[in-house]
Amino acid sequence: MAHQSAPESDWRSQILEARKPVEAAVSRYSTLAPVYELWARVTESRPRRRVLELAEVRDGEAILEVATGTGAQLVSLADRNQSGHTIGIELSDGMLAQTRKRLQTAELTSVELVRGDALRLPFDDDSFNLLVNGYMLDLLMREDIPRALAEFKRVMRPSGRLVLSNMTKGERHRHRVWDWLYARGLNLTANCRGVLAAPVLAELGFAEIRREYMTQMLFPTEIVTARKPAPTDAAPTRSPISETSQRASPHG
Ligand SMILES: C[S@@+](CC[C@H](N)C(=O)[O-])C[C@H]1O[C@@H](n2cnc3c(N)ncnc32)[C@H](O)[C@@H]1O
Repeated sequence: MAHQSAPESDWRSQILEARKPVEAAVSRYSTLAPVYELWARVTESRPRRRVLELAEVRDGEAILEVATGTGAQLVSLADRNQSGHTIGIELSDGMLAQTRKRLQTAELTSVELVRGDALRLPFDDDSFNLLVNGYMLDLLMREDIPRALAEFKRVMRPSGRLVLSNMTKGERHRHRVWDWLYARGLNLTANCRGVLAAPVLAELGFAEIRREYMTQMLFPTEIVTARKPAPTDAAPTRSPISETSQRASPHG
């Protein structure tokens, strides 16, 4: 693992604009829902495991997962939080149906599933100890990324933890194949292109921002953790971002 300090940068100029409005991407995900797990197992299984480690669920918490997809991560979170309350929110009807099925099979009772939009979360301010969101920011229009993250911050409790996973910009030549295809109109993954969440979190005043980079089957993922500052924290400074880059796997 190589450690480095990432400069805060002009993220807008570094990421591609989404090609389609998010409604089109959500509708595509409804169609993809029955087969999405095949893709996820090939490209996202390692990042999902790492997200769970970093989430450090403590049983009894209020947890929100935004954009549950098929519900695989929601089940893992709820399973570790059986005396707490876990809520999943998702916009695609096809994905909601998959999540519902998975929750029934897992027989988890402490979970609530809501149809709703990440940009307008139907929850009070300061509600959740932990917020998890995977591979959704990379589908949004560029200007909706800070809007979504500001909304996450609003519903998180002071000192609450955030764990994001996103498709990100490839750090090696061969990891850039997906963005290369995207820039040429080969939109295999419904708007999904490399994004950078850490500088946006810094702009929004999150604390303790850490970013890890990993790849699976050449697919580049960033996992970004941060904390919502508490009023008792020392006066906010511009948050430094610490960065870890994991060596690519034999297939990455
Ligand atoms: C690539 S899938 C990832 C699903 C899941 N988080 C995972 O990691 O497997 C992206 C999901 O984000 C959902 N999504 C996109 N925009 C959304 C929004 N504004 N609000 C809620 N869900 C959204 C899509 O419907 C889709 O299920």
